[in-house]
Amino acid sequence: MLDLLVKAARLPGRREPADIAVKAGRIAEISPRIDAEAQRVIDTGGRLVSPPFTDPHFHMDATLSLGLPRLNRSGTLLEGIALWGELKPLLTHEAVMERALRYCDLAVSQGLLSIRSHVDVCDDRLTATEALLEVRKRVASYIDLQLVAFPQDGLYRSPTAEANLLRALDMGVDVVGGIPHFERTMEDGARSVRRLCEIAAERGLPVDLHCDESDDPMSRHIETLAAETVRLGLQGRVVGSHCTSMHSVDNYYASKLIPLIAEAGVHIVPNPLINITLQGRSDTYPRRRGLTRVAELRAAGVNVAFGQDCTMDPWYSLGSADMLEVAHMGVHAVPMTSREAMAWAFDSVTLNGARAMGLPDPTLRVGGPASMVVLQARDPIEAVRMKPTRLAVIRSGKILAETPARLARLSLPGRPESLDPADYAPIAED
Ligand code: FE2
Repeated sequence: MLDLLVKAARLPGRREPADIAVKAGRIAEISPRIDAEAQRVIDTGGRLVSPPFTDPHFHMDATLSLGLPRLNRSGTLLEGIALWGELKPLLTHEAVMERALRYCDLAVSQGLLSIRSHVDVCDDRLTATEALLEVRKRVASYIDLQLVAFPQDGLYRSPTAEANLLRALDMGVDVVGGIPHFERTMEDGARSVRRLCEIAAERGLPVDLHCDESDDPMSRHIETLAAETVRLGLQGRVVGSHCTSMHSVDNYYASKLIPLIAEAGVHIVPNPLINITLQGRSDTYPRRRGLTRVAELRAAGVNVAFGQDCTMDPWYSLGSADMLEVAHMGVHAVPMTSREAMAWAFDSVTLNGARAMGLPDPTLRVGGPASMVVLQARDPIEAVRMKPTRLAVIRSGKILAETPARLARLSLPGRPESLDPADYAPIAED
C-alpha cells in the first residue's frame, strides 16, 4: 500500500504526464501509469508537479511589520534602514515570532518550503535572533529555514556589530552576513568582506553578503568577495546578494568581473521585486532598472537564483510569499523573454535557490524525497505567466496545504459555463 499516489503529473522538462508513487516519505516510482493501492490519491489531470519553491534571500525579522512604527514615505533603501532602526528597539520576542510564524504559514500555502532569512544582529539584546532561532525549531518539520547573521548597520560602522555577529553564530545562526556598501568608506567595506570571509572560513560556515545594493558603479565589493572566496577556499558556499551596482559598471569592467565570479563559484541572488522599486531612485531620466547582469552571469555559468527579500516591511509594502511573482518580475526587469529564459526563471526559484542555499538537489526523482507542489498550470512557463494556485503542497510525502483550483463560473450568452484560466491558452512548442 502506497502512502500517496500523484496521478498524471507533468514534471518540468518531461513532455508526457506520469504517475508518482510515494512511500515512507520518498518517491518510490515514476511511471506513465501506476496501478496500486494508496492511502491518498491526487489526480492532477495533467497539471505541473514541481519541486517546492526556494527563497534564498528574505528578512523574516521585519516581515509583516508594514506601518510599524510608521510608513516609508520616500520609498528609498536608506529611509527603510532608518525606519527599521526606529522599530528595532520596540521589537519583542513574541511579536517577532508571531509575525514570522504567520509568514511561514503563508509560505507553505504558496509551496515555498526553503527560506534563507537574514536576521539583524545590530541589537545588543539579539531579540530577533533569539526569536528566529525558536521559529527555525518550530517550523523544522515543514520549512528548511536558514538564518544569516546580518549586521544591518555595518560591521565596522556599528560599534557592537562584530561582537553581536559572533554571539549570534555561537547561538547557532547558520550563515555569515554583511553589508559592505553600507560601511563608511570603500576601504571599510572591503575590510568587512575580508573579515567576514575569514570568520566563515574559521568556523566552516557559508557566507551571504548584501553586496553593492546601489547604483554606484564604484561599489565593487563583489570583486573582493569573489577574490576572498578563492583565497580562503570557500568556493560553492558564498552568495553575493543584490549586486545591483553591476548594472551600472562599464562593460569592460563587467567582462573582467563576471569570469572572476564564475571562477570563485560565487552564487548571485538578485531580488527583482525590491531591486526594480529601489534602484534608479536618484536618477531623473533615463532611469536605470538597476537589476544585476542576469543574462551575462548565466552565460558565464554562474548560479543565479532569484530571491524575494521583503514582504510588507519597511522596504517593500507588497509581496505575498509567491516565488512565481518574483520570477515573473525577473522576466520583465532583466528582461528575458525567450522560452528558454522563461523556463530558466522557474528553475531559478526552485533548483537554483536550493543550490545557493547548499541544499540537496530537489529534482523529483525515484529515491529522492517526496517533496513537491501541484500547480494549476501545465508547464513552468505557464506557471511563471499565471502565478497559479498551488493545488497541493507536499513535503516528505505529507500533504501540508491544499487550495481549491481557481475556476470562474461564467454567465455569458453562447459561451462555456466555466473557465479554468490555465486551460485558456495552448502550450507553445519550440
Ligand atoms: Fe536583503
